Amino acid sequence: MSQPRRFWIRSFGCQMNVHDSEKLENLLHHAGYEAAADADAADLLIINTCSIRGKAEHKLYSDLGTLRAWRSASRGRVIGVGGCVAQQQGHRILERFEQVDFVFGTHNLRRVPALADAALSGRRAARIDASASLDRFDLPERHPAFASATPGRAYLTVMEGCDMFCSFCIVPTTRGREISRPAAGILDEARRLAEGGVHEVTLLGQTVNAYGRHDVRRGTARGKGTMPFAELLAHLDAIPGLERIRYTSPHPIFFDDELVRAHRELPSLCPHVHLPLQSGSDRILTAMRRRYTASEYRAIVAALRTARPDLAITSDVIVAFPGETEADFQATLAVVEDVSLVDSFSFKYSPRPGTRAAERAGRVPEPEAQARLERVQALQARLRFAGHRARLGDVTEILVEGPSRRGGRQLRGRDPQHRLVNLADGAGLRPGDLARVRIVEATPHSLIGEALGSGASQAPRGGSHDGVKTGPGPADEMRRAEPSRGQPMGVTG
Ligand code: SAH
Ligand code: SF4
Ligand code: F3S
Repeated sequence: MSQPRRFWIRSFGCQMNVHDSEKLENLLHHAGYEAAADADAADLLIINTCSIRGKAEHKLYSDLGTLRAWRSASRGRVIGVGGCVAQQQGHRILERFEQVDFVFGTHNLRRVPALADAALSGRRAARIDASASLDRFDLPERHPAFASATPGRAYLTVMEGCDMFCSFCIVPTTRGREISRPAAGILDEARRLAEGGVHEVTLLGQTVNAYGRHDVRRGTARGKGTMPFAELLAHLDAIPGLERIRYTSPHPIFFDDELVRAHRELPSLCPHVHLPLQSGSDRILTAMRRRYTASEYRAIVAALRTARPDLAITSDVIVAFPGETEADFQATLAVVEDVSLVDSFSFKYSPRPGTRAAERAGRVPEPEAQARLERVQALQARLRFAGHRARLGDVTEILVEGPSRRGGRQLRGRDPQHRLVNLADGAGLRPGDLARVRIVEATPHSLIGEALGSGASQAPRGGSHDGVKTGPGPADEMRRAEPSRGQPMGVTG
């Protein structure tokens, strides 16, 4: 082909999906494709879908309606659909939407260049075979043209899939069984990222702190090259240049003493845990098959705060699960308030095909569900603002992300607690830099800081702990095809 073919990727859903889109981008570069400047300049458009709630799934169907015109506007254009809806629907997407040329499941990223080549030659196909193989972690190194929109930080997959089968959740169907990546590959990738100027990694997995658990329980961890999650964190902490380690999303039942101790002992482990609560009512937690009680959840938070007093907790909450009474809902409000969540994502329960809860009686009427959503969100807004005000005067460190949405010359970054900090004057700082700042103002949605000193910082790691690692300097400016979203799991919809 005389001209390189150009791709454009649209990504919905959780960080896992955002990172899958990054992996796809890299694979396509290796296959000779180039990133398009926008969808109009692309020959190949890929939609990486989310299915967590009905709204997320329907977004795909409405997008596909609009994309019919995109596809017919120029000859040789093709559309690929991947991600969790693709895994769930497979061939049915091809049958229902003539404008879709290929479909690929969540275990089939590596097939995309071949599927795209075939589609560009007029052959339609769907590949959604589930695989238990570790092959999916064997991806090529970062292509020189692969550029991250997130200088200084990167996602790092440590496990995939979910064996928990919470009664409301589609993820075990769309992502398949739990599989943990051998630690050697994780540590190699982390070292290469650090050498390339990455200061912060976010470890990804649907139940990330379940890492290695099946192998450890069966006594096969050594052979499989895995280990308990807390040990993996300790190895990562020892990598020079890696200043900040985060992980998402952990499941409460996999917080053991070692993981709590890691928060006390590992300087680069950030003082922030996104700890999904879902409900504060034991009756509802049982019906959700979450396998913890509200008091166990509170106990984990207390242990984490004892280990790391400046630790911020964020969470996910579902309201109006079938059978949820006003008293159950109030129990949720009580936990949210008592553990002082600094932020949370709250969702109205959405029935998902094939899940146990979808069959449950006691659907909460929509107006009541909406009212509960608004009540929990109002409480969260109050707690968030209080949490922000408590930070006034703190000296902290931010990883600069880019220009602030507040405009002007302001920059935006994240502190170790993962709070958004806008810098009134970020002169001399670039995306990917670490900068020491003082918090001078608290707003309902973010913090405002002033820079202390200039340029890349010598700030402490992971927050208030002592000790500075030496390592490579700030990352080069990098670009990628589509702005990346760093959303917690399941934000779409
Ligand atoms: N693995 C994570 C959650 C991943 S899904 C965990 O175990 O906590 C992200 C969030 O979406 C969930 O925490 C839950 O709050 C929400 N969610 C999942 N399924 C949902 C459903 N059917 N209806 C409403 N919210 C849902
Ligand atoms: Fe797994 Fe989380 Fe979904 Fe539960 S909510 S089934 S732990 S992904
Ligand atoms: Fe899939 Fe993530 Fe959505 S696992 S269903 S893309 S939240």
